[in-house]
Amino acid sequence: MTEQVLLKNVNNPDALTLTGYEKAGGYQGLKIMFRDFSPDEVIAYVKDSNLRGRGGAGFPTGLKWSFVPKDSGKLHYLCCNADEGEPGTFKDRVLMEKDPHQMIEGMIIAAYAIGAKTSYVYIRGEYGLSISRVEQAIAEAYAQGYLGRNIMGTDFSHDMYVHKGAGAYICGEETALLESIEGKRGQPKLKPPFPAVAGLYECPTVVNNVETFACLPHIFSRGVDWFTAIGPMDAPGPKLFGLSGQLKRPGVYELPMDITLGELVEDYGGGPLTGKFKAVIPGGVSAPMIPRSGFDVKMDFSSLAAVDSMLGSAGVIALDDSASIPVVARRITEFFSHESCGKCAPCREGLTWAAKILRRIEAGDGLPGDPDQLEVLCGGIFGTTFCALGDGAAWALRATLKHFRPEYDALISKNNNRG
Ligand SMILES: Cc1cc2nc3c(=O)[nH]c(=O)nc-3n(C[C@H](O)[C@H](O)[C@H](O)COP(=O)(O)O)c2cc1C
Repeated sequence: MTEQVLLKNVNNPDALTLTGYEKAGGYQGLKIMFRDFSPDEVIAYVKDSNLRGRGGAGFPTGLKWSFVPKDSGKLHYLCCNADEGEPGTFKDRVLMEKDPHQMIEGMIIAAYAIGAKTSYVYIRGEYGLSISRVEQAIAEAYAQGYLGRNIMGTDFSHDMYVHKGAGAYICGEETALLESIEGKRGQPKLKPPFPAVAGLYECPTVVNNVETFACLPHIFSRGVDWFTAIGPMDAPGPKLFGLSGQLKRPGVYELPMDITLGELVEDYGGGPLTGKFKAVIPGGVSAPMIPRSGFDVKMDFSSLAAVDSMLGSAGVIALDDSASIPVVARRITEFFSHESCGKCAPCREGLTWAAKILRRIEAGDGLPGDPDQLEVLCGGIFGTTFCALGDGAAWALRATLKHFRPEYDALISKNNNRG
């Protein structure tokens, strides 16, 4: 049985209170950090831990922090990305609802490292319970002196606020998230400059995911050697996987990233609901699906990239024999088309067009050239947009054509044989 680190407190309701969290070992990492580390040493230590972001791209966390300039003369900001809008993803919700202090402790560590006096937790608006639990935990942290002026007697001061999202998936993209906090329309900005240099109010800003922050207290309380010994060398540490779709035991599981996709859905997910698995989407709907023949892939960033997919948000969606891939593709593409912010024409127009083609295939009016036309549309979107929404949508759709083209052709030829 894998030791539960991030999920250690999920069945311990006492940990919702600051006293209960402390009793379970909470705020030890923060105390050690203040005692033994300068901000630069914190960044170096997190680099040594090889912690990689849990929000989607797997970017090395310490490296990201090191991009924050030391002499800009501007305020520095920290943001926690708790927007969690990617379909199939619900791991951050568990962390916020069940153990909010873990994430807050990690945020204070990060804020100290980058010299941020202010941070925002950008929480998906639909997550009412997460919002109230995080707000309550922040209030307690202030009362106990973990937030506010001269934290724990040091000369470091920090304020933390909750910002509620309003239901737009695009606001999970970090530059759109920052625009949204500023009260503007949530649309991505061209990078560079990256937020670490010009983020919130054009000031140096770090954006990290909830789970990324949740890893930090443990790195400081248990040490880098402990952290790097978990899972693969280039993707160490505990990891949450959200299992959903057509499998018997959906839920959030904490496992090292050297587990295979097959072990995850068979041993932990309990196998398919009916028949056999047909495919699995390994990291939220923007991650290209992997057919059953590829289930021996390990669930780490580089192994999944090597099979033209990605770990993404680690929202693992299983599809069994009863699933129609063109229908799944239509649903996914409609989601992306609806959530496209419209700023970049290839994403706005291309996804609308692709969804229209997929709808007609499903409705029985597909044309023989439709799958090729979908390929062309994907090619026109990929790499041509400000943010990765368009890339993810095109990549996900392409994978359905690559692995399951016969399903499209069969549906279309059935349609064309109706007489
Ligand atoms: C369309 C889109 C939506 C995203 N949604 C989220 C999200 O809900 N949560 C998240 O942590 N990252 C999301 N990301 C990734 C963020 O832009 C960013 O890379 C991440 O918050 C960085 O955190 P990390 O370094 O800790 O992984 C999204 C990216 C895109 C392109």
